[in-house]
Formats: sequence, structure tokens, C-alpha cells
Amino acid sequence: MDTSSLFRPGSAQFVADPYPAYAELRRTGRAHHHPATDQWLVTHHADVSALLRDRRLGRTYLHRFTHEEFGRTPPPAAHEPFHTLNDQGILDLEAPDHTRIRRLVAQAFTPRRVEELAPVVQRIAHGLVTDFVAAGGGDLLADVAEPLPVTVIAEMLGIPEADRHLLRPWSADICGMYELNPSEDTATRAVRAAVEFSEYLRGLIRERRRSPASAPGPGPGPGPAPAPTSAPDLISALIAVHDTDGTRLTEQEMISTCVLLLNAGHEATVNTTANGWWTLFRHPEQLALLRAEPGLLLGAIEELLRYDTPLQLFERWVLDDIEVGGTVIPRGSEVALLFGSANRDPAVFDDPDTFDVRRPAAANRHLSFGAGIHYCLGAPLARLELAASFSLLLREAPRMRLLAEPRWKPGYVIRGLAALEVEV
Ligand code: HEM
Repeated sequence: MDTSSLFRPGSAQFVADPYPAYAELRRTGRAHHHPATDQWLVTHHADVSALLRDRRLGRTYLHRFTHEEFGRTPPPAAHEPFHTLNDQGILDLEAPDHTRIRRLVAQAFTPRRVEELAPVVQRIAHGLVTDFVAAGGGDLLADVAEPLPVTVIAEMLGIPEADRHLLRPWSADICGMYELNPSEDTATRAVRAAVEFSEYLRGLIRERRRSPASAPGPGPGPGPAPAPTSAPDLISALIAVHDTDGTRLTEQEMISTCVLLLNAGHEATVNTTANGWWTLFRHPEQLALLRAEPGLLLGAIEELLRYDTPLQLFERWVLDDIEVGGTVIPRGSEVALLFGSANRDPAVFDDPDTFDVRRPAAANRHLSFGAGIHYCLGAPLARLELAASFSLLLREAPRMRLLAEPRWKPGYVIRGLAALEVEV
């Protein structure tokens, strides 16, 4: 079928509500070739879930083929700094490099480590929400949704407070490259951000090597100064691994990992928070239910992640021929896994277009955190942050209301609002 009239990621209208188009795509097939991006759109939950786990696909092909062998043109030389940075982060590596580095980084995200972070997250969220309420409201996105995950991940890595304002613009410029068909202007900005971010981290690594620092502890309660724990910050911990055995982690891999953690550690959480409140404002009876029964919150967060998927699409290269719904997708192709569509698939979810905070969390098999070897490393941390900010805002701002209908940013893959103006 001709997908061009349905799948229009460049259109503001599509970005604002892609779900009716997904329903039509799901109804008419399981894999559609989309000429504008030369990708195969995969729309059904069962297929997206299976392909995320299928080793015949990869986030990269460079562990098995050169660009030429794979029938692809190498990226222009001018984009090189972006690829040097991006391609050595775990999200864009496959085994065995992915396994080696993920194992190292995963130590910072074990259930115990994340549990230890709960008081830190709570302290930061409490400070932000208290200020927000005292101010009578404002832009929920800029004032709460954004600073919470940025501060948490920056503290985990040990980024000095004075430098944290640099992270969001660098991340936004780098993440521009994850949209479909990025323009040359987007690439130029991403390259500049990649160079500056890498240089910044190289300097910080030099400094940390001279004097290792500690990760934040719970601190005395709401307030700015975190108390150090005995655990080193993540950058110091990675330096220790690199310096003990440079074959386990190169300096470039360390830098790429830190950038990935800093970017992935906040982009989707920011959008889940703001998009989530926008969903709640559009469903006042569900918001009232949640206010009346705070015990529903954890299930409601899963439902928010499902109902309006913050990361709409992830790509995979086809390393060996696959078949989806009777269609052969040959080696060298690219598939676009439509998470937003999978999360509204009636084959898996009853009444998928209904937002229902009572939907049982155990039955909510959304794919918003992915699946397989690249399953989101930060999912427990993201859930902790979302629970902290939503519960505090529900409790401390019981009459919070929207002041103006929000606007979507143009991005489709990383899909979020530009602002969310509210009054408390
Ligand atoms: C609501 C918030 C979040 C969502 C929806 C989300 C979603 C995802 C998804 C879908 C993937 C897999 C992509 C793929 O398979 O191609 C992923 C990977 C990843 N996420 Fe998250 N994420 C969130 C928050 C976080 C946080 C807070 C961190 C903290 C560090 C984080 C770190 C990562 C990392 C490091 C990876 C790469 C894992 C790998 O390749 O092995 N994410 N995330």
C-alpha cells in the first residue's frame, strides 16, 4: 500500500496524533515499505516485540559488514565527529562490544543501586515541586519535568552543578540526528555538539583522574547540597575500570557511554512527564480518580507510557533476510519499529485507544522501554523519577490546571511538548 498519505512524520498534524494512522497501517498489513525513508514500517506488537529480540537485526551492521559490503554509502566525512561519539555508545553497538560495556555500566543501575537513589530523587523532586507550587505554577516542562532527570543523571555521573545548563542544548542537538532524514543543518549542529560535549568530558575525565569524586547521597532533606556516599560517581568508576584494564573500556567508549547516559537519562523522561500531564488534563475523570486513589499511580505511569509513547520509533538494520507477515525483508534493509503503534495494538490491549489508569500494570505489556539486549538500562530509574514527580504534584498541587493548549515540538521519534503552562 502507499504509506505516504498515512505515515507523515514531517507533518505537525501527524506528530500531534499519529494513532489513527497507525490503526490504518496495522489494519492493512504487518510490514509496509515506506519510500520516503526507504524503511519497512513494522506496526504490530507481536512483530515489534519479536524483532527487538531477533539477532538477525542490529542497531548497527558495522560489527559484521563494511558500509560497502552492506550496500550503504558511508556517512559524509564532515559528520565524522558525530559518528565517532554516537557509534561507540552501547545503544549503537552489538555483541561482543555491547555485552562488554553494558555489563560495566549496568553495575550502576542494579535494583539495589537504584533503590539507594530513591531518597536522592525524592529530595530533588521535592525541592522542584515546592518551588513550583510556591510560584503558583509556571511551565511544568521547564520547571519540573526537565530539571528532575537532568539533575539526577548529572549527579550520578558527577557533572558539576555549574556546567549542567550545557547538557540540554548538547543533547537536543545530538538527538536531532535520531529523527528520520535529518537535514544538513541538523547534522552540522549535531557535529558541533558532539565535538564540544566530547571535549568537555575529556577535560572532566582528566580532572576526575586527578581527584575522584563521590556520587550523591540522600542528603539532609530537601535542599541543594547532596551529601557524598562512599560510592564513586559513575565517571570516576569508569575511569577506574579503564585505568586498571584499558582493554575493557577505551577512553572513547567511556566518553560515548557518558554522553549516551546523560542524553538517554533525561530526554524520554522529560517528555513522559509533560506528555503524561497533558494526557491527564485531557481525561479529567481519570485525573480525579488518580487524585482520589494514589495507590493507582504506579499502574497509571505504565498506562501513560503505553497510551502516549514517548519514543515513537526505533530502527534496526536487517543483517540476514527476515520475513514479516509473509513479506521477505532482505539483508541490507532497514526496519522502523513503530512502538507507538505496537502500544495501541488491539491484539494485545483491550480497548487500546482508551486511557485507563485502572489498567492492571501486570497486563500492560507496553514496549516503551524496548525489549531484548538493548532494553532500557534506565527503566527502573525512569519509573522512580516519574513516580516521585507525579505523586508530589498530585499531592501538593491538587487543583493544578492547564492554562493553554500546548504545542508539540516538531520531533516525531523523540516526541514531546514545547511547554506546558499550568496554574496551581
Ligand atoms: C521514560 C523514560 C525512558 C524511556 C521511555 C526509555 C526508552 C528506551 C528504549 C525504548 C530503549 C531501547 C532502544 C532500542 O532498542 O533501540 C532505551 C535504551 C536505553 N536507555 Fe532508556 N528510556 C527512558 C529513560 C532512561 C533513563 C532514565 C536512562 C538512564 C540512564 C536510560 C538509559 C538508557 C540506555 C543507556 C539505553 C541503551 C541500552 C542498550 O543499548 O543496551 N533511559 N531506552
